[in-house]
Amino acid sequence: MRFFNFSERTILGIETSCDETAVAIVKNGTEVLISLIASSIAKHQQYGGVVPEIAARDQIKQIIPLIQQSLKQTNLKWDEIDAIAVTESPGLISSLLVGINTAQTLAWLKQKPLLKINHIYGHIYANWLEKKTLPQFPILILTVSGGHNELVLMKDFNSFELIGESLDDAAGEAFDKVAKMLDLGYPGGPVISKLAQKGNPEAYNFPQGLKQKDNFNFSFSGLKTAVLYTLRDIEEKITKQIKADIAASFQESVCESLSNKLIRAAEKLSVREIHLAGGVSANQLLRQKVADKIKSNPKLNQIKFRFPAKIKYCTDNAAMIAAAGFYLNCQNHEE
Ligand code: KG4
Ligand code: ZN
Repeated sequence: MRFFNFSERTILGIETSCDETAVAIVKNGTEVLISLIASSIAKHQQYGGVVPEIAARDQIKQIIPLIQQSLKQTNLKWDEIDAIAVTESPGLISSLLVGINTAQTLAWLKQKPLLKINHIYGHIYANWLEKKTLPQFPILILTVSGGHNELVLMKDFNSFELIGESLDDAAGEAFDKVAKMLDLGYPGGPVISKLAQKGNPEAYNFPQGLKQKDNFNFSFSGLKTAVLYTLRDIEEKITKQIKADIAASFQESVCESLSNKLIRAAEKLSVREIHLAGGVSANQLLRQKVADKIKSNPKLNQIKFRFPAKIKYCTDNAAMIAAAGFYLNCQNHEE
């Protein structure tokens, strides 16, 4: 269904695929009028990962007050909302149902179109938020979070070609599992990258999965096991410095693997832009490596490199869902 042209549209987005309850209102797929997130993350920390039942119970409590708050803070009335976009899949089913049921009920009550969005495509549209210029196709996107890890080629709105994906764990999940092994808490990405600043990335030579030149799939389970065995075999007391060295060496391996595959795929598929998306796109080392590799490659140095305008648009949020709802239902803007 393509019922929009590029006239003004204000979309309410709802995202409840994991531990967070997120509500946003976005105008024309880019201007974020409000983006609210209530996270139940503190309640999951002692378990080292998200507990689905705790997440869904929290989302039931949070969702309606957040929608009310989003309208109140933007001074918008329901008749100024043109559509409701909601994450349909993938994610924790009990959590997704809270968002979908709420969106469906509101769409029926308020007589609004309901736009069902794939969470992974949602992450991709985070790069269209709060940017001065629209991206130019074809775009190669590395979208990586705790639950997914893909290389996607976009030749147009609503055209997603899978170039590669993880054959086992997503990189974010590897960050979370290694953080658990090191007793650093959840989520792993931010704590590992902070600790890694004090560590030596060459202290341990951790493996990179599927290194062959033309293989655009990813694998992180071997790396996870290598960290586990390294920790098991250390006979002395595991000091903060040892943990920092492991964190830095692990992060180095993940970011080398992600950035090398992204760059090789970009070389092969003449693209105009390279984007990073998903929770792991918040990682500074990954951004740096991709930027450096683009700059030093004569075949790629005309390419535009984007990552989300704010860290809060890297991790799960509802603004990206509202943006996806807009662009996926537009006519091609050149028509
Ligand atoms: O996109 P997201 O919020 O949720 C999913 O769709 O899974 O991503 C969360 C993931 C977690 O695995 C977290 O450890 C990772 O993103 N992450 C990071 C960083 N910040 C979050 N990974 C590496 N470096 C970071 N700075
Ligand atoms: Zn996500």
